[in-house]
Amino acid sequence: MAGIRLENITKRFGAITALDGVSFEVADGEFFAILGPPGAGKTTTLRTIVGLEKPDEGDVYLGGERVTETYPGDRDIAIVFQNLALYPDRTVFKNLAFPLKQQKIAKGEIEERVRATARTLRIEHLLERRPAKLSGGERQRVALGRAIVREPEAYLLDEPISALDALLRLEMRTELKRLQRDVGRTMIYVTHDQVEAMSMADRILVLREGVVQQVGAPAEIYHRPANRFVATVVGSPPMNFLRATASWEEGTLRVSHPRFQVAAAAAHLRERLPEGAACLVAVRPEDVRVELAGEGMPATIYATEPLGGETIVDLNLDNRVVKAIASPALALSEDQEVRVHFEPRRLHLFAESGDALLSAAGEDVFAFTLAT
Ligand SMILES: Nc1ncnc2c1ncn2[C@@H]1O[C@H](COP(=O)(O)OP(=O)(O)OP(=O)(O)O)[C@@H](O)[C@H]1O
Ligand SMILES: [Mg+2]
Repeated sequence: MAGIRLENITKRFGAITALDGVSFEVADGEFFAILGPPGAGKTTTLRTIVGLEKPDEGDVYLGGERVTETYPGDRDIAIVFQNLALYPDRTVFKNLAFPLKQQKIAKGEIEERVRATARTLRIEHLLERRPAKLSGGERQRVALGRAIVREPEAYLLDEPISALDALLRLEMRTELKRLQRDVGRTMIYVTHDQVEAMSMADRILVLREGVVQQVGAPAEIYHRPANRFVATVVGSPPMNFLRATASWEEGTLRVSHPRFQVAAAAAHLRERLPEGAACLVAVRPEDVRVELAGEGMPATIYATEPLGGETIVDLNLDNRVVKAIASPALALSEDQEVRVHFEPRRLHLFAESGDALLSAAGEDVFAFTLAT
């Protein structure tokens, strides 16, 4: 039983409000990611959960029990910090054994648990080495081992692989996911890397300036972002936003851009989007289709970025840059005239404020027509 719940947590450091009314719940055994840019309050959230920070307001619950005032050592949670620290003068074995020794566990059992943890992390062959003789990835595994060897109810990882090189990060990503499934414990994983969050977590919390923006499964965050910030923080290159104007015919919303119109039965938006209001039509680069000729919207290639398997194209569409992902087979070049389509089932509509109003998310929500 190790669900984790934060209820309306506010944490201030002098004039800075690091967390502002943060509430969320992590289920027992869940892999939960907290995604946000530097300074969002990610580390502060973890430190509050383990008890290293005392919130100014709100409460922390572990397994249904209020622990807001509980001493950190009495909370059955392990944390791996952003800057991992191993004891340099002790072997890997001793580094792993240390948390167990502190718990006054018998020698035989320590030996057994250290070996089991080393097996899980595939570092058995490193047990007699000292940290200085390990690669970055190996050291990272030992640091993780120190967290899981205690078999805590939950573990919190603070950007555990951000210091590693790209290839190693890729490998650790799949390993961490496996590890969490194997161990079956609750994990909160902090990262500023959207790919890590999207590829590993059961659910993602997007944090910005101490305020929760959205909590949801990766697909939900991706296809139904709550606002422009969330929409931009996941997906690469980021979503395109195009300014448009709303008008109404009965319950039908018509959004007009110089090059196209989208219509939707959306009477519920009437108050939020009055006649003539400015709004944003948004589409991800992979949902922009580029063709050499045909019926699509006319656009000009501004720049191309060939990545091998795909090419990122900057299009000039009505004097705004729209990014698209195109096939290298099109052999596009700068200043070329092309035709562009948007996939209507992937369109989004945002208010000028950035709040999401309507996302197609794969459904036939929007009718798309070219401007005449
Ligand atoms: N001990 C502290 N004293 C004063 N301000 C602090 C302290 N700890 C954090 N802050 C401030 O609180 C805010 C949130 O910090 P936090 O470390 O939680 O962000 P983060 O999301 O972990 O960022 P990063 O991705 O850079 O690690 C920042 O503005 C930071 O400067
Ligand atoms: Mg941090």
